[in-house]
Amino acid sequence: MAKLKIVKYGDDTLRKTCRPVDTITPRVLTLLDDMVETMRAADGCGLAAPQVGILRRIAVVEVEPGEVYEMINPKIIARAGTQEESEGCLSLPGKWGTTRRPMHVTVRYTNRKGEVVEASGSGLLARAFCHEIDHLDGVLFIDNALNVIED
Ligand code: CO
Repeated sequence: MAKLKIVKYGDDTLRKTCRPVDTITPRVLTLLDDMVETMRAADGCGLAAPQVGILRRIAVVEVEPGEVYEMINPKIIARAGTQEESEGCLSLPGKWGTTRRPMHVTVRYTNRKGEVVEASGSGLLARAFCHEIDHLDGVLFIDNALNVIED
């Protein structure tokens, strides 16, 4: 496993639309491993492939330690309720903003075994799913934040 360099705000990579993954190659599995390691090393609760310079629809989320979601081609298929909470991003260090997100979401994605699975999350987990999937379309939390502060 290797820790990857996190792309920072201002880099065009963060604004691109990522391409779907058609085949789960050993390279994709290594990328998932490296992304989890990178996310944990940076104390984040999610990381998307464009944040490590890879324009593929891949994201990882870990809100509860040990409960890792490794998502290939993720898509939000259901959402309910709303929440307004503060969030940040490993690509925008020192910036925080209040965003309006669904309170509950269900995500459908392909896992590392190639199985199409669904996961539901509420609160912070729902926010993390939305935030990471937004990255795959070049969307950053500051784009829709109700306010942005810097610390
Ligand atoms: Co982010």
